[in-house]
Amino acid sequence: MAEKDEIFKRTHSCSELDIRDLDKDVILMGWVHSRRDHGGLIFIDLRDRDGITQIVLNPKIDMISHERAQSIRNEFVLAIKGKVSARPKDMINPKLKTGEIEVYADNLKILNEARTLPFPLDEHSGISENLRLKYRYLDLRRPSLQGNLILRHKVAKGVRDFLDKKGFLEVETPFLTKSTPEGARDYLVPSRVNPGKFYAMPQSPQLFKQILMISGFDRYFQIVKCFRDEDLRADRQPEFTQIDLEMSFIRREDIFLLIEEMMTEIFRESKGINIDTPFPRLGYNEAMERFGIDKPDIRYGLELKDVTDIAKETEFKVFSKTVEEGGKIKGIKVNKGAQFSRKELDNLTGIVMGYGAKGLAWIKITEEGYQSPITKFFSKEILDSIAKALEGEKGDLLLFVADRPEVVTNSLCQLRIHLGEKLELRDKDKYSFVWITDFPLLEYDEEEKRYVAMHHPFTAPVDEDLHLFNEDPARIRAKAYDLVLNGQEIGGGSIRIHLRDIQQKMFNALGIDENEASLRFGFLLEALEYGAPPHGGIALGLDRLIMILLGAASIRDVIAFPKTQKGTCLMTDRSEERRVGKEFRSRWSPSP
Ligand code: AMO
Ligand code: AMP
Repeated sequence: MAEKDEIFKRTHSCSELDIRDLDKDVILMGWVHSRRDHGGLIFIDLRDRDGITQIVLNPKIDMISHERAQSIRNEFVLAIKGKVSARPKDMINPKLKTGEIEVYADNLKILNEARTLPFPLDEHSGISENLRLKYRYLDLRRPSLQGNLILRHKVAKGVRDFLDKKGFLEVETPFLTKSTPEGARDYLVPSRVNPGKFYAMPQSPQLFKQILMISGFDRYFQIVKCFRDEDLRADRQPEFTQIDLEMSFIRREDIFLLIEEMMTEIFRESKGINIDTPFPRLGYNEAMERFGIDKPDIRYGLELKDVTDIAKETEFKVFSKTVEEGGKIKGIKVNKGAQFSRKELDNLTGIVMGYGAKGLAWIKITEEGYQSPITKFFSKEILDSIAKALEGEKGDLLLFVADRPEVVTNSLCQLRIHLGEKLELRDKDKYSFVWITDFPLLEYDEEEKRYVAMHHPFTAPVDEDLHLFNEDPARIRAKAYDLVLNGQEIGGGSIRIHLRDIQQKMFNALGIDENEASLRFGFLLEALEYGAPPHGGIALGLDRLIMILLGAASIRDVIAFPKTQKGTCLMTDRSEERRVGKEFRSRWSPSP
């Protein structure tokens, strides 16, 4: 029977109808989420992006539609014409926005069929992520993933509105460009018209946003893709999105205020949460001392305490020898940890050893006194002083690593993170922001045998430290800052160098001579000579921010078409499966 398409024009989405729409004639379109055949009546949960509406097919209303409904399977695409009616009282579903109504269909049209899905959409436990990524278009039908992208859209829109209100202009910068160093490798694109030449994909719009300041744009922002060829992790993608901004004639405080206000709005609008401002600030050195990392999760304690001076006075060779050799001893206290079993302690030892420590010394403070294989090497006074330094009380466990300072810091930091998770010290409902400030400008790269920029080469040194370029570059502090949220770096920025001679000094410190500087960054050096205003900015990782807002375990859950840990897209790249046509692929679609 020919049906005219025009009678099937959608009138409502699948979440719109409620009790106020009783008796309305409506047309809905969507996917079959589920179908239940109750003898006479067939119930279909029809789903679209907005929600689900229950459709009822009664053979007495329309025999043909009822018959068609018998053949449909999950994920068929339907158009339904029908009348809104109230559900019987005992059938009301309070969990559903449309839970008080149902639509009695008088016409059902199958718009498309669907094969049996490789995995069910209503749950994904036990389904491998690779299978989900291969069928990303199906995975993306799941309301939870759709919800993630809807939130992402809302946050991006909120950010645009907020920055617009604050006088920022969104300006696009090129993707096919010259290398912008941010510490990763570049993705390169060969140029057809200039054989042998390559464009670099930007690691960030850093240089262009600085140039825009020189052009007088004053306040720039961009929600922008960045490309970095680096090892991938749960919170890293080779292409990711930054909320990137830059301002002229400002100080660090102006950036802090702006971002705190922006975060307040984002959290209020998307989660209905009031976050505390101003965010606490922590100097880089202090963060490293207390937490062993420059992105500490400050939702919980377990801070690292230096006991080198107390604990070196001992017969315990491991400690005394380490200190003699210039090493350190640091410890952390685990509240109520005295009950840890031998097995648990061995497990913790394994963790620090995985990060290069030679062992983990432990002392339990019990009712009977100190308990540990190493107490015999210490006097009661020294044990008391160690316990005091760690604020240990009865019932607590003290853990120590003695080693080179880097090993102590890193292994105890990892132990702290492990315990924070294992002991469930990370309050899921808490959002702890912290600004990390006063980073060193440079760090020494042992492999390259030269200094590299800790942030990027365009970050300004602290004025009082300028003389150190000649004396001791490692001690120069940077006007750089990171924003950390619950132990994740969600943003980083700095006040920039706007004076040419300082930029040149910075390049020199990085081992970039004048010739190379002029080849790679000549345009910037020259631009700095034409009235560059003082300026600074920041970039926030949008993907990471959304991840935290959603409590998502992987960055892939907040990106529509993400790449795997190996940097491939399983949906578009089926090269493993189909070897035929290989030549075509290698010529026309090189795998990423
Ligand atoms: P930075 O390199 O710190 O600074 O990057 C800013 C923020 O971007 C996020 N981010 C990433 N997110 C996902 N995957 C990645 N591979 C990835 N790399 C970085 C992080 C990070 O804090 N131009 C400077 C900013 C500036 O100085 O204004 C920059 O890019 O959340
Ligand atoms: P040992 O003397 O090697 O039997 O070690 C005694 C205890 O000290 C064990 O619990 C080891 O795990 C621990 N230990 C060994 N080396 C270190 C170290 N460098 N730092 C902290 N504890 C250590």
